[in-house]
Amino acid sequence: MSDEQMESVMHEDRVFNPPETFRKSAHINSMDAYKAEHKRSLEDPEGYWAEVADDLHWFKKWDRVLDESEAPFYKWFAGGKTNICYNAVDRWADGPKAGKRAIVWEGEPGDQRELTYAQLKKEVSRFANVLKKLGIQKGDTIALYLPMTPELAIAVLACARIGAVHSVIFAGFSAESIKDRVLDGKSKMVITGDGGFRRGSVLPLKSVVDQGVAECDCIESVLVVPRNIGGERMKCDMQEGRDFWYDEVAATVSDECPCEEMDAEDLLFLLYTSGSTGKPKGIMHTVGGYSVFTYLTSKYIFDLQEDDIYWCTADVGWITGHSYIVYGPMQNGATVLMYEGAPNHPQPDRFWEIVDKHKVTIFYTAPTAIRAFMKWGDEWVDKHDLGSLRLLGSVGEPINPEAWMWYHEKIGKGRCPIVDTWWQTETGGILLSPLPGVTPTKPGSATLPFFGVDAAILDPAGNEVDTGLLAIRRPWPSILRGIWGDADRFKKTYWCNWDGKYYFPGDGARCDKDGYFWVVGRVDDVVNVSGHRIGTAELESVFVAHPLVAESAVIGVPHEVKGQGLVAFVLLRGTDADGSDDLRKELNDLVSEKIGKFARPEKIIFSADLPKTRSGKIMRRLLRDIACGNALGNVTTLADPSVVESLKKKYSS
Ligand code: PRX
Repeated sequence: MSDEQMESVMHEDRVFNPPETFRKSAHINSMDAYKAEHKRSLEDPEGYWAEVADDLHWFKKWDRVLDESEAPFYKWFAGGKTNICYNAVDRWADGPKAGKRAIVWEGEPGDQRELTYAQLKKEVSRFANVLKKLGIQKGDTIALYLPMTPELAIAVLACARIGAVHSVIFAGFSAESIKDRVLDGKSKMVITGDGGFRRGSVLPLKSVVDQGVAECDCIESVLVVPRNIGGERMKCDMQEGRDFWYDEVAATVSDECPCEEMDAEDLLFLLYTSGSTGKPKGIMHTVGGYSVFTYLTSKYIFDLQEDDIYWCTADVGWITGHSYIVYGPMQNGATVLMYEGAPNHPQPDRFWEIVDKHKVTIFYTAPTAIRAFMKWGDEWVDKHDLGSLRLLGSVGEPINPEAWMWYHEKIGKGRCPIVDTWWQTETGGILLSPLPGVTPTKPGSATLPFFGVDAAILDPAGNEVDTGLLAIRRPWPSILRGIWGDADRFKKTYWCNWDGKYYFPGDGARCDKDGYFWVVGRVDDVVNVSGHRIGTAELESVFVAHPLVAESAVIGVPHEVKGQGLVAFVLLRGTDADGSDDLRKELNDLVSEKIGKFARPEKIIFSADLPKTRSGKIMRRLLRDIACGNALGNVTTLADPSVVESLKKKYSS
């Protein structure tokens, strides 16, 4: 957040009460009810969560709700047997909701598909049988690299159905990122598409996968789902014996496949996310607790009702898509809208056209998208009837009050509550959020903790303070179970502060007089660009892999639309500090190649030196001050104070 935005948040005192009509029919509709239930959930977590879990199907009940004996490796519902695919699909397909639409999908070129819960069960079962036929068994890991088509949700659910661990890789990641994730998770298979659409062009997914898995011995097969435009497959190189077209194998299997009985603590998925050091970490989520928590948060925070058309604009490649496109809403039997492409294709009103056409009632998006819409102009919004909307949501980064107000007035027409939901890949589900029928909202605040969540703001010594580090006191059911293959990193990253008594999310926050939380952003070296987490260390290691680069320092700076942007200071080998535009392009290409286009910095500054302390530590704070045009803080500890002046000149030129 920029100083200006921080300032506006600090002085934000507008309060918006839930509209009376909304409140009346909401699942939870009084502050007293919220407070009583929150209190009970903290006083008797096991009783509370057992009651919630009873809403779901269990093949066998758990032995114990919460097992803390090996903290911080918490176990929830251990001994219980369930299957999240059963809870998300079969429960509805085999009951009165069989004919209800589960997925309403729109492709970027305008093609459309709908699947009822009964059809979804068949498609998921068929997909599961294809996986089995290709040798996949319970416990195997499968990487998914697919466009936002129904098959992405179907493939995820098919893995869950047979107990395979899915590791979804967002389709904007590079071949190198696929390789890292496939090798780390020891995936046996990659499921990809022949292509997918983004802003009018076709993403060549299969060829990216081919490059990515070229050196991955663990890969036994590559399954290619045709994107199916006009009934044609796109041309792909198929490797005999390794690569299979999904439709060909699907034609040979049945559409019935029983759900595997999974232990609540069996691994459901890995999802890689960036940290402040090293390679991305494989966040582990298990079946039982994740099912229960995503089910309940979806029900209450999105106030899902029978007739809702729910649209979360995230990609299933991120945690938001896992929890709040697929698992959470479907465990509530909701109708979920999925859209494949860009918000501004063919024009900047594509989202509003979709809302209008499909009569979307709940709309969940990221502040970066909201700021882009503000920039594109209100006329694109005004062209469409948004009268079907009844609830709006925000996720992924702090929402600045100006964007919140625009969302409230222009999209919600002043009558839709906004749920600003704070959470992370690691938390599996939403921890801080208003309840839409209950909580008075304040622009920029994620307000209050959800049931079972005991949040605090602490200083490094563990004292409760108004402004400091966000901390969560006790485990909730969908807390990450670890970092794949790195128990030590798990303990060091999340449990090192405060004697392991609190989970440390890495965010800074403030608490106001009403006990509302205002999350301001990361306190570590992770930058949130358009809601995507990028570790500065990851980017720095990409730059130093270039033979001309000696050292680099990457920082996050406020960005009008993206929330934060990246600025890279790059020190070249030799004394010549003036890298060319060609070199700049080479470095940008290197980022696209090693991580993905979305991680390219806004600016690359070449320099002869970097501001360092006498002990050789780069002073990132000064780099931030230079990039933001702030008055420079104390420079007396610098080994060579003149570096700063020359950097300032370079930055502004
Ligand atoms: O800094 C917080 C920010 O996004 C980080 C988590 O990123 P990721 O694991 O990619 O998950 C994003 C989707 C849940 C957090 O550490 N963040 C997320 N939501 C909010 C937020 N910051 C402020 N307000 C939010 N509502």
